[in-house]
Amino acid sequence: MKDSLEITKEAVVGMVPVMEAEGLEELAALAKANNCRTMLEIGTAVARTAVYMAEQGLTVTTIERDPDMIWQARRNIAESGQSVRLVEADAREADIRGTFDLIFIDAAKSQYRRFFERYAPLLSEHGIIVTDNMKFHGMVDHPERTQNRHTRGLIRRLREYRQYLESLEDWETEFLDDRGDGIAVSRRKR
Ligand SMILES: C[S@@+](CC[C@H](N)C(=O)[O-])C[C@H]1O[C@@H](n2cnc3c(N)ncnc32)[C@H](O)[C@@H]1O
Repeated sequence: MKDSLEITKEAVVGMVPVMEAEGLEELAALAKANNCRTMLEIGTAVARTAVYMAEQGLTVTTIERDPDMIWQARRNIAESGQSVRLVEADAREADIRGTFDLIFIDAAKSQYRRFFERYAPLLSEHGIIVTDNMKFHGMVDHPERTQNRHTRGLIRRLREYRQYLESLEDWETEFLDDRGDGIAVSRRKR
C-alpha cells in the first residue's frame, strides 16, 4: 500500500504543487476540531492531500480537470487503498451532490470566489470552508517581489478574494497567515 508520505515525496520530485506540510497539519487539526467526516476538495493534483485526509478517517471527494494529474491521482488513490472519490471535471461547472463538513479550495487562484459561491451551498450546517495560498509565498503582502504579469494578476485576485470573504455578512473568516502558505477558515455565523 502507498501512503500519503510516499505520494508527497513523489510530488516533490515531480515538482507538483501540493499544500505545504504545516498547512496540511492545520487542515487535519481543523477537521478533527470541527468533527468533520466528509470533505470536498477543489483541486486534487496527485491526490496527496486527499489520501492524507482519508488516512485521518474522512470520506473524501475531490475534483480535478487536468488529464495528467487525473491519471496520477487515480493511480495513487488505487495504490493507497483509501476511500477517495475522484471527480474528473472542471470545478467551475462540476455537478456535485451531497453535503460536506469540510470544503477545501485549492485550485486555480483566479477562480477562488467562483468556487466558494458554487460549493458553499453544499456545506453542512456546522461545516468549514478552508482556502489555501492566501499569502501566495508572501507576495500577497509584497506584490513588488514579482514583475511577472500573470503572477501579479493572481495576487490581485487573491487580495480581492480576501476582501470578498471579509465582506460576507453571513460568514466569519479567520485568516491563519502564519500557517503554511496562509489559509482562510470560513464558517457561517450562527
Ligand atoms: C495546488 S494543486 C492542488 C494540490 C492538492 N490540493 C494537494 O494539496 O495535494 C491545484 C490543482 O487544481 C487543479 N485545478 C485548477 N483549476 C481547476 C478547475 N477549475 N477544476 C478542477 N481542477 C482545477 C490543477 O490542475 C491542479 O492540479
